[in-house]
Amino acid sequence: MTAPARLVVGITGASGAAYGVRLLERARDLGVETHLVVTPSGVLNVHHECGLDRRQLEALASHAHAPGEIGACIASGSFDTAAMVVAPCTMKTLAAIAHGFGDNLLTRAADVTLKERRRLILMVRETPFNLAHLRNMTAVTEMGGIVFPPLPAFYHRPQTIAELIDETVERVLQLSGVAEARPTSWGGLKAKVTAAG
Ligand SMILES: Cc1cc2nc3c(=O)[nH]c(=O)nc-3n(C[C@H](O)[C@H](O)[C@H](O)COP(=O)(O)O)c2cc1C
Repeated sequence: MTAPARLVVGITGASGAAYGVRLLERARDLGVETHLVVTPSGVLNVHHECGLDRRQLEALASHAHAPGEIGACIASGSFDTAAMVVAPCTMKTLAAIAHGFGDNLLTRAADVTLKERRRLILMVRETPFNLAHLRNMTAVTEMGGIVFPPLPAFYHRPQTIAELIDETVERVLQLSGVAEARPTSWGGLKAKVTAAG
């Protein structure tokens, strides 16, 4: 019997906490083992934007680790994981990851993910970007990480915010390779035009 895929999930203090919450819910539905680490600003924003406290958030994960718990399993490359997603990712945490600055468990786990050549997906959220943000995104990309700002697509004509979030989360899960996620597949504009007559 093969062990379930392990996904490290980081949540930081950027707007868009719902992406992290939904990611944990979907991973649980898909039978993915999740290891969660939330920064103090992340806890603040999850409560502000989603109304969940730390305990409620951590209950969505298979395992929860405190950001100061630098001796946790996910701090070592010998602990086998498939991928890590930071959802959402602040410019501060992006900067730390871009510069290999593992001063907390989240940035250490991201550093480990990169050094082990595993998939790292950063759902960065800020607007507009300054040059430091752009340079840090370039650095992470050069190291093999994937910068995935949660920019919604409208070509599937979503009717609710939940639909927008679900579509993005599904794509991130697919990209992480840990589960058979099912984002809506685009069949081409021609088919749409034909259908419209
Ligand atoms: C309500 C609120 C919204 C924020 N949104 C963002 C954001 O979208 N992007 C960002 O980079 N920082 C944002 N911040 C600032 C970060 O939370 C702050 O820089 C913090 O130090 C980041 O720490 P962390 O990366 O350890 O979570 C926000 C802060 C608050 C209070």
